[in-house]
Amino acid sequence: MEAVLMREEAVARPEGGKHVKLNVTLKSITSLAENINAFEFVSSDCGPLPAFSAGSHVDVHLPGSTIRQYSLCNSPAERHRYVVAVLRDASGRGGSVAMHDNLRVGQKLVISAPRNHFALEESARTHVFIAGGIGITPIMSMLAEVQRRGEQFHLFYCARTPERTAFLDRLKPLIDRGLVSLHFDDGDPQKGLDLTATLTKRSDNAHLYYCGPGRFMDAIEKASAHWPAGTRHCERFSASGTVAPSIDSSSRDGQERPVPFELELRRAQKTFTVQAEESIVDVLRANGVEVDTSCCEGYCGTCMTRYLEGEPLHRDTVLDEEDREEFVMICCSRSKSGKLVLDL
Ligand code: FES
Repeated sequence: MEAVLMREEAVARPEGGKHVKLNVTLKSITSLAENINAFEFVSSDCGPLPAFSAGSHVDVHLPGSTIRQYSLCNSPAERHRYVVAVLRDASGRGGSVAMHDNLRVGQKLVISAPRNHFALEESARTHVFIAGGIGITPIMSMLAEVQRRGEQFHLFYCARTPERTAFLDRLKPLIDRGLVSLHFDDGDPQKGLDLTATLTKRSDNAHLYYCGPGRFMDAIEKASAHWPAGTRHCERFSASGTVAPSIDSSSRDGQERPVPFELELRRAQKTFTVQAEESIVDVLRANGVEVDTSCCEGYCGTCMTRYLEGEPLHRDTVLDEEDREEFVMICCSRSKSGKLVLDL
């Protein structure tokens, strides 16, 4: 889940090295489509929830120490609730199955404050959205926001069948006005949206936002390669094939291999060595330092940590260049410098 960020609240900054957590109650579960449920969370103290920007997601801490990220699909104008929509994926890592099978209305849960790695571009006045399947979720909050702002937009929404398509009721007024195009392919890519034709022309000042399965995202990236830098924004739910390879330093045989480095926790006043075959998270946990992780592949943002000195070897697909000057994803990144100092 990544992309360009709104500078004022691009990322929910970790406090004391950790993300802010919220106590919430699951108020309702609603079926949206085949195997897709909406989960509505309200604050357990009945107060307003922190404001969020369109495209934000939250970490849901599930029983059993599982943490999963889900995009908020309700309007950012709402402060009384957060709503996520989840596709039950029996072949996934277990988070969506746990959401569907184990959560009950009234259950109390911990979630993170919203973070946004997939924000609307503030300067854009025309927005082109492309959603594949459950990739519609962050785009639903974006649609609410661009309508509130009165900006131009069009959504291309691709799915297998109407039965497997979430939010059709909510989108119907926009479909009727020609602002949303539906494309059902029945699982046959030949019947899918012609991405090349769709993305060949770009109107002035238009920005593109897309989210969906990995291959779908790759195809969009390719079809929009001619769009100007900074006008394309996407959110991935798995590591992209473009993630930096797991290499650090050049060796004599021309191969590059990870090398050990020193890791200092400035506030804890502790120093460890991260060996070539270890991750920063491995070393922290082995030494009793509690850290939250979820994807462990650099695309969810859960492990984002501020660093104070050194030069990280960034391997995530979340942070932009400006954020990389301050933060590092410690599940996957290493250090180019001999020492990396974290604000922990
Ligand atoms: S755990 Fe997902 S980015 Fe590190």
